[in-house]
Amino acid sequence: MSAASRGLKRGLILAAIVALFGVIGYLAVPQLLPQRGDGGETAGSGVVSIGGPFSLTDQDGRIVSDKDFAGKLMLVYFGFTNCPDICPTGLQTIALAMDELGADAAKVQPILITVDPERDTPPVMKEYVQAFHERLVGLTGTPEQIAAVAKAYRVYYQKVTLKESSLGYSVDHSGFIYLMDGKGQYLSHFRHDATPDQMVQKIRARL
Ligand code: NI
Repeated sequence: MSAASRGLKRGLILAAIVALFGVIGYLAVPQLLPQRGDGGETAGSGVVSIGGPFSLTDQDGRIVSDKDFAGKLMLVYFGFTNCPDICPTGLQTIALAMDELGADAAKVQPILITVDPERDTPPVMKEYVQAFHERLVGLTGTPEQIAAVAKAYRVYYQKVTLKESSLGYSVDHSGFIYLMDGKGQYLSHFRHDATPDQMVQKIRARL
């Protein structure tokens, strides 16, 4: 075997491994969650522990914790600003739901937590969240802080090297939007492709 074909073979094996872990991550996460209902959402069973305290840095460089949002329902989404399509879809749905909620939107705090803390600094997060909704908070932190909060929310994410792109790498991640109560306890979750109506319905039932 030539050096070139050995290199190609190694590349293919590596790509297969990366793809396999992506699939495992994607399949494993929903199984950790309660059964999904009809509306792309889930009734909280109280069996699975999702969420927990966090201390992160917001888009203005302030240290914020879950306690800063106490008393409001939290819509928590994990993503990153360079995400090509899944994140913008989920965040657009959250933004439309917030608008649809009208005055009740004041009782809901939408939060984006980055899974790419190295690139998503507070200024980068600020520009990004402002593009979706004025109430959207963007949180970042050290890689260790992000790993801890992702683990608490049972979020899978994994850096994937992009050889053909100037971006250098992308981040595979699960795309659930979590609805948490005023004490930070898990109520329900939505898939990134839930509709704003489904989201609003579920949120109103919890207000
Ligand atoms: Ni994404």
